[in-house]
Amino acid sequence: MVMYNAPLAYPADFDGWRKAARLALELGVEPEGIGFTAGEEAPGLFAEPLPDAAPPGARQPTVPKAFPDLARRIVCHADADRFVFAYRLLFRLQTEKTLLEIASDPDVIRAGEMEKAVRRDSHKMKAFVRFREVEDAEIGRHFVAWFEPFHHVVELTAPFFARRFAGMVWTILTPERSVHWNGEELAFLPGATRDMAPVGDDMEALWLTYYASIFNPARLKVKAMQAEMPKKYWANMPETALIKPLVAGAEAATRRMLETGPTLPSLRHDKQEERRVMNLPRMEKTPDLAGAGAAEERPSSIAEAREQAAHCRACPLWEPATQTVFGKGPDDAPVIFVGEQPGDQEDIAGEPFIGPAGKVFDQALAAAGVDRAQAYVTNAVKHFKFEPRGKRRIHAKPNMGEIKVCRWWLDLERDLVRPKLIVALGATAAQAVLGKTVTIRDTRSRLIDLDERTKLLVTVHPSYILRLPDAVSKERETRAFEADMALVLETVPELAAAA
Ligand code: URA
Ligand code: SF4
Repeated sequence: MVMYNAPLAYPADFDGWRKAARLALELGVEPEGIGFTAGEEAPGLFAEPLPDAAPPGARQPTVPKAFPDLARRIVCHADADRFVFAYRLLFRLQTEKTLLEIASDPDVIRAGEMEKAVRRDSHKMKAFVRFREVEDAEIGRHFVAWFEPFHHVVELTAPFFARRFAGMVWTILTPERSVHWNGEELAFLPGATRDMAPVGDDMEALWLTYYASIFNPARLKVKAMQAEMPKKYWANMPETALIKPLVAGAEAATRRMLETGPTLPSLRHDKQEERRVMNLPRMEKTPDLAGAGAAEERPSSIAEAREQAAHCRACPLWEPATQTVFGKGPDDAPVIFVGEQPGDQEDIAGEPFIGPAGKVFDQALAAAGVDRAQAYVTNAVKHFKFEPRGKRRIHAKPNMGEIKVCRWWLDLERDLVRPKLIVALGATAAQAVLGKTVTIRDTRSRLIDLDERTKLLVTVHPSYILRLPDAVSKERETRAFEADMALVLETVPELAAAA
């Protein structure tokens, strides 16, 4: 028997395979009589190329409608014999027309498994590719990503990225094949190495936002998601830091998604329409007449409040921010800690005090023996206010108007939680709680009666300690902050952490 070899252009060259397979079929070549080589693999020792054309009058191969799509995915599989296997199916289909319907046939079973594996790998590429912006004098803004697929899915998946990021110039590098989009067409290039991809966190924030927006909480299955994300991806993915908060916020996000549709949130909402739909007052003009949420029914639980606050548009801070960062903790906690406003990381994760300031806070609580899990932690202002500087987002102080408008939420949290003690972390928090400007120096470290039930303790903001330039004052202020946390525990002994 003559052994043929058909050279293919690249590891998932479906068109090349189809052409060669059709010719081989017309020549009557059996599956055992042909090999396909793509890339580096050496052709069989005695193999010879297929002739240029089939003999005249050869029978035209026929296939069921479903076969081309199936074969297109099979040839993307990592198995070395994928092309021969696809040919074997094609060959059998010529005499066994209903083969694909025979679910118990070993070839059909294998085909199904291969197709599924390729689909999953392609899906992972869509979900986990993360671009970084690189400087490029020639083409301007250029976004580059590194990804390591298990199967040969670059060609199969590239059109998705071309549609999704049509307006960007981007390149996805993989060990085997790379793909470049110049804004008009796709070009496939040789493989690359990881060190050719940029490192750094320039695009991280943007990407996390994107990830959060494609994440579909309506179809959330945590187990399945974890199965979808092998360790290999987790290692490389700050996005995974988002999973927990995303799961936690799934319900609210589902509702939001039903309202907005499953697309990237546009920064240019139609404000008029938004107001009509949300039935919110024109807060920018009349911040004193009504607070945030004034037009909605007053929530009767923290859960309801959190859900309503997720839609709050009462001041302009909501627009550039990722999400509302509402308070977190038991809704009957004996203590509420109030910060200023969420920072960059809090904005992305949707939880208060989880970034650098949160670490300082946690350390002081631990030093004093306070269990944070038993406290309710929130901020005076619930949206991250920042100024873009290059690609970074720099914290900006909320102004009086914003603090005033957002105070509606803080007051609501106070009413619902009804704590014994409120701890104001920093001057902004103290101002929001007291409704007037105060200094830390005048108010710090003593218990102030707010009403017959609730006391206030004012202390510094943990970021203040972070910003201190020298180790000596840092040490001193850390101790003073810890002492304030000890006073918290003394006032509310229920907060004691288990030994
Ligand atoms: N700073 C704050 O005031 N609040 C946070 O949640 C994080 C940093
Ligand atoms: Fe509403 Fe407060 Fe956000 Fe302003 S900062 S939009 S008042 S939640």
